[in-house]
Amino acid sequence: METKDQENNTPLPSLESWEDDVLQRYPEPGKTAKSKEEFRNYDSPELTGVREFYRLNHKYQTYHNVLAKKENFLKFDKKEIPWWDAMEFLNTLVDDSDPDTQLDQLQHLLQTAEAIRADGHPDWFILTGFIHDLGKVLCLFGEPQWNVVGDTFPVGCQFSDKIVYPDFFADNPDANDPAFNTKYGVYSHQCGLDNVHMSWGHDEYLYHLVKDHLPEPALYMIRYHSFYAQHRENAYDHLLSAHDKEMFKWVDKFNPYDLYSKSPVTPVVSELKPYYEDLIAKYLPATVKL
Ligand SMILES: [Fe+2]
Ligand SMILES: [Fe+2]
Repeated sequence: METKDQENNTPLPSLESWEDDVLQRYPEPGKTAKSKEEFRNYDSPELTGVREFYRLNHKYQTYHNVLAKKENFLKFDKKEIPWWDAMEFLNTLVDDSDPDTQLDQLQHLLQTAEAIRADGHPDWFILTGFIHDLGKVLCLFGEPQWNVVGDTFPVGCQFSDKIVYPDFFADNPDANDPAFNTKYGVYSHQCGLDNVHMSWGHDEYLYHLVKDHLPEPALYMIRYHSFYAQHRENAYDHLLSAHDKEMFKWVDKFNPYDLYSKSPVTPVVSELKPYYEDLIAKYLPATVKL
């Protein structure tokens, strides 16, 4: 019998391969992405890796997986360190396997935050850009890629065919469980996303790390930034409350900074560090309990 242990848990050449794939699906308006033929080169290890990644993600992101991960990681008993050190800890997540990855984790976060800052947004929005992917430290605690990155979606109800690679859900046991495979599953009409379990990953984890410290729009941006089936496709309107819908305007505002802020000009970390340390000190406790 096939078990998780026998599967390759790191099919992505790098964590960024997932984000590069998202960028192909949602190219920056006005800019042409690589042509489909060019990108959908079926021999490319990148594409094979992304497909395999989603096969595992869709097979194993079950309702019970999410409850188990919450039970484990929301104890925050792994490590307690100052926030800046946590950002540097995240940066130890280096992908040697991908020669094309130009940016490390910290560069992506700084570029996202600096783009938000350049547009004159409030400081809590800038801080949100700076920390939004910190949850990827889950990888450093041994979690497989499919439990850390990838598009997120509700579990406990029918998987939408608007989620990328929907066919792979056929292997998810919840898809054959009558408790979970109806439109509403364990939920009810417009019950509100706070009552909905999302697939496990860096978004949900970071939300719980900061939920007592940042304004509500920031929390929505953090918690739902990978929920493309909703913020790009509106596939789960039947679960969102009116308040969620209002708050998703912020998620929409955040998404382009996450996807389109990659620049060949790399911010100088040492020059920016004092500014971001001040922002952290303004909103967050001295240490983060991971
Ligand atoms: Fe992310
Ligand atoms: Fe990101």
